[in-house]
Amino acid sequence: MDKPIDFDRYDRIRPIRWTGESLELLDQRNLPFAVAYDTSSSSDDVAAAIHALTVRGAPAIGIAAAWGVVLAARDIVAANGVDAAQALEPAMQRLNAARPTAVNLAWAIARMRRVLQAAGSDWREVLEREARAIETEDLAANRHMGALGAGLIAAGSGVLTHCNTGSLATAGFGTALGVIRAGVAAHRIDKVFAGETRPWNQGARLTVWELQQDGIDATLIADAAASHLMKSGQVQWVIVGADRICANGDTANKIGTYQLAIAARHHGVKFMVVAPSSTVDMETASGELIEIEERDTAELLSFKGARTVSEGVRAWNPVFDVTPHDLIDAIVTEQGVVERPDAMRMQALFKS
Ligand code: MRU
Repeated sequence: MDKPIDFDRYDRIRPIRWTGESLELLDQRNLPFAVAYDTSSSSDDVAAAIHALTVRGAPAIGIAAAWGVVLAARDIVAANGVDAAQALEPAMQRLNAARPTAVNLAWAIARMRRVLQAAGSDWREVLEREARAIETEDLAANRHMGALGAGLIAAGSGVLTHCNTGSLATAGFGTALGVIRAGVAAHRIDKVFAGETRPWNQGARLTVWELQQDGIDATLIADAAASHLMKSGQVQWVIVGADRICANGDTANKIGTYQLAIAARHHGVKFMVVAPSSTVDMETASGELIEIEERDTAELLSFKGARTVSEGVRAWNPVFDVTPHDLIDAIVTEQGVVERPDAMRMQALFKS
């Protein structure tokens, strides 16, 4: 059993701040060079911020959307929760449509909808309490998953991660990055590699920056260097987050995750997915049913607004892919670990 982690030593950034009047979102488009919060005063501001990636990462967009519903409530008059739910439905649908792949967005809005159905004249307070609960439960889940995931890793291991799954992508501490933080604290992990995560560079701009603030030594690699790294024997685990985990364990995550899983299997490197149960979608049987977001090809054809590719070149920019469950060694959630996931093992942990 590892010593309990000193959480205050890690995880100092918060991407979402509720002021009581508005929602402040750390603008992740400008990190790591400008640390500035953008204010959302309406639910449509929040939907636009989610779409623009001002706030990003599956759990974080769920939390932001929940606060977006609280903001939408400012504009309506209703005697009870059922009437409020009806009046808020258009705003909730606009929030839901901001991004399609991460199920946490729909999950958080469904939670807000559900509490309204049972609320009386105090429905505004009920909504605010629920948004707060979604946020605090996410932080607690991440801390718990950190310990569970780190427990799977042998002392002296090297790990590779992809995208950003840290404090910036969650209520705090992170999912895959939480496991890495806990694993480093427990001296189980002694080498951390992060892939750039082209085209938006979440790994290069966000993950290594977060680790730098923690004083955790990390090495950035080009995405294309991953197989070469695995072949060198320096990593024993690939550890990633998720945007949606299906009933059979198939997992949608940032584009490039699938090829990491294939390379990991080839090289005998283990593959871990870390996500709270809010990312588990037992209603979706398997990965081919997941809608994969495709974003503006400008993300691929330019950098910081400056074109890097000659005019007239066509591009395709799917931003997530699906890793089939048989390439995954462990799915770590706050409810427990599913090893070698399949429909039966997922069902055993997530019955409803
Ligand atoms: O497009 P993004 O940056 O929102 O994609 C984020 C990811 O794919 C993360 O790996 C995932 O949301 C898990 S974050 C804890």
